[in-house]
Amino acid sequence: MKKYFLYLVALLILAGCSGKRGSNDAKSIEGRDIVADSGMVVSAHPQSSAIGVKILQKGGNAIDAAVATEFALAVCYPEAGNIGGGGFMLIRTYDGKTDIIDFREEAPSLATRDMYLDIKGNVTEGASTDTHLASGVPGTVDGMILAHSRYGKLPFRDVVQPAIELAEKGFPVTKEQAASLNSNRTMFIERNSARTAFVRDSLWKEGDILIQFDLAETLKRIRDYGRDGFYGGKTARLIIKEMHRGNGIINENDLKEYKSASRNSISVDYKGYKVITIPPPSGGGIMLIQLLQMIEPYPVRDWGFHSTQVIHLMVEAERRAFADRSEYLGDPEFMKSPFCKLIDKKYIIHRMTTFDPKRASQSLTIKPGSPEGYSSEETTHFSVVDADGNAVSVTTTLNNTFGNSIVVDSAGFILNNEMDDFSVKPGFPNMYGMVGGEINSVQPGKRMLSSMTPTIVEKNGRLSLVVGSPGGSTIPTSVFQVLVNVIDFDMSIQEAVDKGRFHHQWLPDYISYEKNAIDSITVCKLNEMGHKLKSRSSIGRVNAIQILPDGRKSGGADKRSYNSSCGY
Ligand code: GLY
Repeated sequence: MKKYFLYLVALLILAGCSGKRGSNDAKSIEGRDIVADSGMVVSAHPQSSAIGVKILQKGGNAIDAAVATEFALAVCYPEAGNIGGGGFMLIRTYDGKTDIIDFREEAPSLATRDMYLDIKGNVTEGASTDTHLASGVPGTVDGMILAHSRYGKLPFRDVVQPAIELAEKGFPVTKEQAASLNSNRTMFIERNSARTAFVRDSLWKEGDILIQFDLAETLKRIRDYGRDGFYGGKTARLIIKEMHRGNGIINENDLKEYKSASRNSISVDYKGYKVITIPPPSGGGIMLIQLLQMIEPYPVRDWGFHSTQVIHLMVEAERRAFADRSEYLGDPEFMKSPFCKLIDKKYIIHRMTTFDPKRASQSLTIKPGSPEGYSSEETTHFSVVDADGNAVSVTTTLNNTFGNSIVVDSAGFILNNEMDDFSVKPGFPNMYGMVGGEINSVQPGKRMLSSMTPTIVEKNGRLSLVVGSPGGSTIPTSVFQVLVNVIDFDMSIQEAVDKGRFHHQWLPDYISYEKNAIDSITVCKLNEMGHKLKSRSSIGRVNAIQILPDGRKSGGADKRSYNSSCGY
């Protein structure tokens, strides 16, 4: 306990947070279950949350803070925070306008549909996850630059600088990070020719300082030259050199040509709340809207939190939404995807006509529906709200924990293994056990289907919630459960985020649930209804903010691991 307290104090001093809870002065407050008067950042690490809040206190808006938080996560949360990966940013400005920046990675121009198959047509194990070929063209730096150029108030260099200092000075690794770095040690050694910052002579222990000089130099080039500091010049040369070393295929032109995309948000009204989220190339938003509409006609509140009926209903909705995902979702620039039809109320009602309140369906009999007209879970989410009410919901990823564990030599950042999010062979499960179809096959320049679900919720036209989660296939189901906890069961955001979770993804056909999330009597009753259940480690890692009726911000930093709310 004392050790934890000392560690927290060291972390707060380094992070620049006062550590005082509930203070009303301009000092920042940090922790879980905190309420702040003005602005708040909730992210996967105390350092990144504190950096985001410092930017707000310097006069930056939520977008400045989000960009600073993202670069800081690339330093202090290398498991998933990144400049070598991609993600999605959903913005709602204080006057209610929404914007989406899609900085998802793209397949390199030399990618081919069958690049992960051997000559017999079988999937080559590890090729889409563990090698240089596993990396899509990174989008994060372009996405941050675009977001900042559209909305930022502070100079770009000011929002990158804190991450540079963090990389140079270092930060104390958490207990979980030390364990994670140690368990990845062999991979870092085997997959890199030079020694990386992530490997020490001895094993990592909690409180050891992680310094990343090469990464700091890369961030300086981004600070000084913007896009050209990453997609051109020295950084691009280092990426290409790294690709040549490992027979990767990302080339100079792929980097030069990479552009984030702007997308229109999609939304649904659910019990008086407007839930705003993102369209493909993530399937997460479509699924979230499907899930909410599928359960809306049922008396969820009366049935009770985690009652047999509610779990059964939510699981059956998830089964159907995941079946649709496998068939109909992919990069909209490449395929005619019926995604508007998938969230049409008539279609949703039809989809639930096979729902039996007393019996589990069998996934083999739940085929993808027929919408009319259609011929490691390691990712990270952070939420930001500023004093003016601008809100940013960002989910970003390397795919696996530490991506493919390949660090671009002399550039200090880890590459993603996002290519595994394509259907490397239609019908063959990816690392999350999800199967996909032709619509999500590999094609040059195409964005792989994601499950990321950054979401913002309004009530009566006012900002109410900012939410999202990592967790691969469990992302939309985690966000779904948090929304139901708040909207149907009146929980505070912290309570809603901390509650136990369960998940069903059509295939494999069982409910996975966190230990203690479902009591043993309910497990028996669900078994009797025909459900198979398996307990597992934690599901999702939600970082959310709720706006209270008086305008203050309440933090929901997930109790799973060391997420942190920081506000002022
Ligand atoms: N790489 C996880 C996702 O995009 O869903």
